[in-house]
Amino acid sequence: MSTLWHGRFGEGPAAEMLAFTASLPYDIRLAYDDLDGCRAHVRGLERASILGPDDVDTVLAALGQVEEEFRSRSFDFSESDEDVHTAIERRVTELAGPAGAKLHTGRSRNDQVATALRLYVRRGLGEIAQAVIGLQEVLLKRATEAGGHYMPGYTHLQHAQPVLVAHHLMAHAWALSRDVDRLLDCRRRADVSPLGAGALAGSSLALQPDETAKDLGFSSRFENSMDAVSDRDFVAEALFAVALLGVHLSRLGEELILWSSDEFGFVRLHDAYSTGSSMLPQKKNPDIAELARGKTGRFIGNLTGLLAALKSLPLAYNRDLQEDKEPLFDSFDQVLLALPAMKGLIDTLDFDYGRMQAAADGPQAAAVDLAELMVARGIPFREAHVVVAGLVREAVQGGTDLAELVERHPALGEDGVALLQPGVAVSRHTTPGGGGPGPVAIQMRRLQARLSEDSHRVGGEVLGPPS
Ligand code: ARG
Repeated sequence: MSTLWHGRFGEGPAAEMLAFTASLPYDIRLAYDDLDGCRAHVRGLERASILGPDDVDTVLAALGQVEEEFRSRSFDFSESDEDVHTAIERRVTELAGPAGAKLHTGRSRNDQVATALRLYVRRGLGEIAQAVIGLQEVLLKRATEAGGHYMPGYTHLQHAQPVLVAHHLMAHAWALSRDVDRLLDCRRRADVSPLGAGALAGSSLALQPDETAKDLGFSSRFENSMDAVSDRDFVAEALFAVALLGVHLSRLGEELILWSSDEFGFVRLHDAYSTGSSMLPQKKNPDIAELARGKTGRFIGNLTGLLAALKSLPLAYNRDLQEDKEPLFDSFDQVLLALPAMKGLIDTLDFDYGRMQAAADGPQAAAVDLAELMVARGIPFREAHVVVAGLVREAVQGGTDLAELVERHPALGEDGVALLQPGVAVSRHTTPGGGGPGPVAIQMRRLQARLSEDSHRVGGEVLGPPS
């Protein structure tokens, strides 16, 4: 069995060594990115006059054929292919002969791997951001449809103040806007070419990393070749961006689980987006929401696993860095499944506005509004708080109707009673960003504008089907 480094070795690799160290089973999905990196490197070698025009044509044609073999799934792997990069180089050499043997000039797998991985991450982050925007669009659509319907707003999972259903849904959408920001910000830092860093120190050949960076559409090249081959910050950041996005999906999922329970009964799940039970005939389960919650544990694990792998590595490349790929691919794959599933789930929810409003119309929902009415009449808030809290206590303990007590109180009276009518309290939440109809309408317009701006920023680059 012949390896890329066989010149230095008297013996071929042991089967156990290859079995433990190979990354081909998972880095195969970097094939197209590696081919792009190879083509840019070949053109760089031409610019440096290391490859003549004939060699360049031969190697580019071989790379084209390799791509075709991957696309048609006819690429023949050899036992010694320890990763996708070695497999491609081996095949190019088979196809292009002596010209193919020049492909790796001035390049190491260390800069090669980092280049392919950055191309992959850059596209993946864009695709995830697009899917997040898709989910936000559905949240905004459902918020628009919810119109003036309201529900209890909670703190400590206890009724706090009524809010529009739209306000609650958009709270999740705004959190997702920060995820889009983070994904794009991380993409900016991934958008740096490591090609030309070589094994760790650059090269004695006249390579021009600025030109290969441009060729690959990177915004810039590395500043330091040792940093270029050992930096996996962009992977860690991508994993964090997915983990926090997962936390948001998990919180949204958790609410849908609660809301679809018999006790809340705020929403009914669509048949196509829920599952039944193998034993209990009556069940309709919120499995998408539960897995959004469950998979977030994995996203967090992928992030912490990588950080632990990175934390003590000396400069520059170490094989530990190969451990960046599985968590990355896993988080990207799973979040790209979670987002459309959550989108469909929310798009098809059947809201029971009647139950939501009834829950929000409890007599105590307007307690703080009563205190604020007293404030408007010149009473300090602390005093007003004590008065209203006293009335609530009396109502709860004495079984008297709160409205009656409010009516009898000299600083409240009829105006106070009016606040207790269904839907009145929510309409009084008028401050910017607040939960009443006025500020919510403004929020909707702003979110809509933000979504168009963000889709524009994200662009159309996607990962495409895994090879
Ligand atoms: N598959 C390896 C990786 O993912 C390739 C790099 C190996 N480089 C080396 N110097 N052994 O990192």
